[in-house]
Amino acid sequence: MLTAGVIAALLGPSIAVAQGDPLAPTGRWSANMAGRASTPPMGWSTWNAFATDIDEDKILGSARQIVDSGLAAKGYRYINIDDGWALKRRMPDGRMIIRDDKFPSSRVGGDAPSFKPFTEKLHAMGLKAGIYSDLGRNTCSEAHSPTDTDLPKGTVLEREVGLYGRIDQDIALYFKDWGFDFIKVDGCGLRDYAPQSERVRSGKFRALGPFLDSSEVMRTNIAAIQAMFRQINVALTRENPDGDYLLSLCVWGAANVRAWGKDYGAISRTSDDISPAWGRLLVNYDTTVTRPLYAHPGSWNDPDMLHIGAGDFDADHLTEARSHFALWAVLNAPLMIGTDLRKTPQALLDVFGNADIIALNQDPAGNQATLAHDSSDVQILVKTLASGDKAVAIFNRGSGDYDVDLSASHLKFSQDAPIELVDLWSKQVSTFTKRTRLHVKPRETLIFRAHGKHALQGGYYLSEQPGSVNPAVDGVLYPTPDPSIFRTGAGWGGTGGAGDRPSYAGWGGARADSAPYGQLLQIAGQRFTAGIGILANSRLEVRNHGAQRFTTLVGVDDSASDKASDVTFAVYGDGKLLATSKATKWGMPAQSISVPVAGVKLIELVARSPRGDNQRLPVTWGEAALLER
Ligand code: GLA
Repeated sequence: MLTAGVIAALLGPSIAVAQGDPLAPTGRWSANMAGRASTPPMGWSTWNAFATDIDEDKILGSARQIVDSGLAAKGYRYINIDDGWALKRRMPDGRMIIRDDKFPSSRVGGDAPSFKPFTEKLHAMGLKAGIYSDLGRNTCSEAHSPTDTDLPKGTVLEREVGLYGRIDQDIALYFKDWGFDFIKVDGCGLRDYAPQSERVRSGKFRALGPFLDSSEVMRTNIAAIQAMFRQINVALTRENPDGDYLLSLCVWGAANVRAWGKDYGAISRTSDDISPAWGRLLVNYDTTVTRPLYAHPGSWNDPDMLHIGAGDFDADHLTEARSHFALWAVLNAPLMIGTDLRKTPQALLDVFGNADIIALNQDPAGNQATLAHDSSDVQILVKTLASGDKAVAIFNRGSGDYDVDLSASHLKFSQDAPIELVDLWSKQVSTFTKRTRLHVKPRETLIFRAHGKHALQGGYYLSEQPGSVNPAVDGVLYPTPDPSIFRTGAGWGGTGGAGDRPSYAGWGGARADSAPYGQLLQIAGQRFTAGIGILANSRLEVRNHGAQRFTTLVGVDDSASDKASDVTFAVYGDGKLLATSKATKWGMPAQSISVPVAGVKLIELVARSPRGDNQRLPVTWGEAALLER
């Protein structure tokens, strides 16, 4: 295990470790803004199509298709090499050596191959280039590939192609020398090389850690993993003075990363790998759908790459393929195509190329959809767009047909004004008032752009603007697996073992229009259809885009089982106290807070309970809203 001393050494003297009261206002937005991810990144990656069997023709062929098919013009820009490019780490200088038989353009003379000609080709096509590494000494394929054909070759040390102990050297090579724009950093090197593992005992690999256990978060050294990502960020900033880069965190929803990935990178995987199986889509979707407050411009949730083009999402399964695309779009997931575009049928190119759906994903407000109706078989997701219009996705997860009632209140639109719906597949336009009934086939997702009159005049509820709300401290003290996430027999363990058990920590995290454990928001019997639910001893950062007033009704949520502890609510503007509530506890009526915030850029919402038991003490910022007047 990494000791505190080793972590401090990894961090180096230049990085301050946050100390003191985590609930003290900072006046600063703390989620990641580094790199170029003001909207979710779009592109293509080698992994789902080719695994480690990659070469330059395959990659440049798909890149050419991205351009020729018009997808590049629609935003698909990143062409990412995943695992499988590395031949070895040269000794003794540690320089990474490319498999130049697979990447002939890397033979540039001199003493080592270079990816510079490859990235220049992509750049000349108007595209960006991505590369892959691992937090540990070795990668995922070195641990899991059934054959060693495409794996690094040489001695134990030469086959150590990951970043561990080499962060500065490798990041300089990949970004400064080779010109990459994106790096995905995987985690198998910290998980799969335990001293007692077969691969280490065989003498083929050195032992490392393990620091990460993806089925048991309590056996994970979260601080060590964060320290490494912090050091990677320092190196990325240094080697990319123009800021044109992206860091993709890939620790698969393990290590409680669903709570903190947003603070370290542009995209962060919330789950294990996708596969082209419906059950697997449900798992990955579920790890993101309850987390809109953890995604913002610059820090997006990543339920993994698109698997459209294979298995349950191939051209014979257009309903599923379209659902996959529509759901990833409204979740503000990166839209990373994972199929061989040289062979993709037009029907699927049309799915990737639906400009209206892409526009939802790329909307500049950066609000991930929130759940307006939640059940195990049908869900309604609503995403507030910069224009004030809404995107609405109605998702039938199950195997039966459904007639779904979509109401104005799902959209937070007025009951008495007409609402226009544009179907983003058929382009048909319809209008309704109050509610409409829609038929949804098994595994289908209806997706519309909706225009109507806002129920809240002259402002927005914070839960409509999750892209501008950051749970800097969400009050979760003990990372707990989220039991609401679908578990599938199509999981990576197959059906031979004990099954997919709850493993993705984040249970009790901050929620939009929901209490932290999924109940409806309620204070002393007063129900709120809008609001933020969060545990006590929490601090939310809220960007103010020019609103004049902040209003809310606060109290301990009725779902709290700590009925004894006092909670006090405070509102800060750019670090200065604007308002506090009286101390309150379970069963006491909601208190109203209304404060002017003209000119304030960052509002902070703090719920403090010095003696409270956070995880038993959900609190509610009911109807929290920013108003124009
Ligand atoms: C892990 C990642 C995948 C892919 C492979 C490569 O499983 O989660 O996305 O990068 O490693 O080996």
